[in-house]
Amino acid sequence: MGDPAGGLCVSGWFPVLITLFKGVHIAALILWCAGLLALPLMLSRHDPAGTAAEYSRIRRATHTTYAILVTPAAVVAVVAGTWLIFFREAFVPWLYAKLLFVAALAAAHAWIGHLVVQVAEKPEKHRLPRSYLPITAVGIPVIVILMLVLGKPDLWDFPLPGWLLEPQGGQLPFDVPKR
Ligand code: HEM
Repeated sequence: MGDPAGGLCVSGWFPVLITLFKGVHIAALILWCAGLLALPLMLSRHDPAGTAAEYSRIRRATHTTYAILVTPAAVVAVVAGTWLIFFREAFVPWLYAKLLFVAALAAAHAWIGHLVVQVAEKPEKHRLPRSYLPITAVGIPVIVILMLVLGKPDLWDFPLPGWLLEPQGGQLPFDVPKR
């Protein structure tokens, strides 16, 4: 990846690698976000008053979607995105803002996972929230992330507390090799 001058090599296979990782990132996040929007609708179809066979079918579909599709897609999106940070050297404020909203999306993901487990384990006891609540919890971070990543706004002047902008002189709790 490096060139003799010590910088990143921007010719040859490197742009192809970036395109590949970006393609994987986008494909995975489409599955991740679409799945997170579909799951609350699937959860709303869990009706304990229906037959056991119907309940079991929708419960199995929800569980499979979450465990086999949505969660692995989230892992792939995050891993590919993390590589892209270094490939694109995107150490810029819009990316940090994006990561804040990715954390909110991950929290919504965990909440929906909790609901999936609850309908499986306590079908009679558990009352699901109305589907617009988890959909909103997913939709807001997704919209903000897309605005940040596609608009790439210049946030260098965004007012941040001083302790976030200056080294605090702290030490790591272990020795690091000297350059
Ligand atoms: C930990 C999670 C994530 C990381 C570390 C990450 C990081 C990145 C990086 C570094 C890029 C390349 C930007 C560039 O080429 O200038 C990128 C592209 C992109 N990301 Fe993510 N991302 C993450 C999650 C997401 C999520 C959840 C979404 C959507 C909801 C998203 C949407 C996009 C899109 C649409 C692009 C293409 C933008 C472009 O080429 O202009 N990312 N991501």
